[in-house]
Amino acid sequence: MSRRLEGRLVGLGVTGSIAAYKTVELVRLLRAEGAEVVVMLTPSATRFVAPLTLAALSGHPVLGDVLALGADGRIGHIVVADSADVVLVAPATAHWLGAMANGLAADEVTAVCLATAAQVVVAPAMDGEMYRHPATQGNVRRLRDDFGYTIVEPDVGPLASGQVGVGRLADLGRILDAVAAAVADRPVRAPDPAARPARLEAGPREGDLEGRHVVVTAGGTAEPIDPVRVIANRSTGKMGVAIAEAALDRGAAVTLIVGGVSIGLPEGARIRHAETTAMMREAVLAATLGDETAPPADALVMAAAVADFRPARAADTKLARGDALTLELEPTEDILAEVGVRARDIRPRPVLVGFAAETGSLARAAEKMARKGVDLLVANDVAEPGSGFGTDTNRVTVLAREGAAASWPLMSKREVAERLLDRVVGLLDERDATPQTGTMSPEATI
Ligand code: CTP
Repeated sequence: MSRRLEGRLVGLGVTGSIAAYKTVELVRLLRAEGAEVVVMLTPSATRFVAPLTLAALSGHPVLGDVLALGADGRIGHIVVADSADVVLVAPATAHWLGAMANGLAADEVTAVCLATAAQVVVAPAMDGEMYRHPATQGNVRRLRDDFGYTIVEPDVGPLASGQVGVGRLADLGRILDAVAAAVADRPVRAPDPAARPARLEAGPREGDLEGRHVVVTAGGTAEPIDPVRVIANRSTGKMGVAIAEAALDRGAAVTLIVGGVSIGLPEGARIRHAETTAMMREAVLAATLGDETAPPADALVMAAAVADFRPARAADTKLARGDALTLELEPTEDILAEVGVRARDIRPRPVLVGFAAETGSLARAAEKMARKGVDLLVANDVAEPGSGFGTDTNRVTVLAREGAAASWPLMSKREVAERLLDRVVGLLDERDATPQTGTMSPEATI
């Protein structure tokens, strides 16, 4: 696709026509052409399209009150008027054309048009009779002939009234062509971003794990019975991978330690494969506790379904079919509990997050949290519909060392991941703000 509006600022004025819903797509198309877009709404336009939608799509606060100052103390419509390369009014109602033709600046859209030296492109949309009325036609003529505005004539077609006639908002491609033609060959008016309208504040999540190292485990470990058979579990790795992806998007360096998984792994993570519990233990300890070559991680999120038992002796050769087979199982190492103990001597101490997959009641979760020495424990009932292995959603209860347990509603695993990382970020900020004393070993103080 061509990017005819690269580096341009488009002020998009929306007025109260039913066609206002089309501006959602219009913003997307303008941005795809390379434009920065700031939206102005008349009061009646807000009844057809939500300011929040247009703010989210444009990345700018929407201007809707001609008397309001921006958060930065500047007068919004003056900033747009002074910096926009083009002001596009789409859809323009009969009322707005009348106000504009007479210079009645009671709303943000007319105010910007009156105050600007930029090119103005107007795309009317209304009922056919209204458009043909001499008053409207006179106003359109005045805008075109006296003010030099480009008018993108409405299309003929079915109208909101059920009639067929002229008055449909012009095809969006035609509007884009008019905008591109209006700015062609002109220099960019305000290349300095400081002279342009302020963008929306970055969300609190964006970049809040910048400079942090997060270790995440995902999937299930498998324990060999013989060279071809394993004891495994139903974990797919979805929850752990969602956490790794969310942490990467928030700027963290991520080590993702995976057992058996049945989904793709995120690019950008340092991947470590660990088939058995013993291999996962080694990888987790190395990545989390650090050594001479690497500092300890900032957080460990242990989302893997780790086998609790393994065959006491794996056979060296494939077991032949027999009458019956009895396997002797021995417990595996509890990786998280070991990290919990060893992390006590590390400064700064990594934040530890465990998961507790239960079937039935979550009553054992509090005890498990203490036993593993974690800061947060995410407990879920894997037998509940919509939760657990292989689903895209999860309903969890989050226990913390301090404060009440929080039961979150059913939500996507990605949203669970984001909320969990919100908690991790909070704990890391707390950790860094408090001088760490306690059970620090003498070596750790050197
Ligand atoms: N975990 C671990 N090492 C193990 C078993 C579990 O690190 N050998 C971790 C899991 O990754 C999870 C947390 O401990 O984050 C809780 O796992 P869960 O299976 O619910 O607890 P268990 O320790 O197995 O306790 P129980 O079998 O009594 O439910």
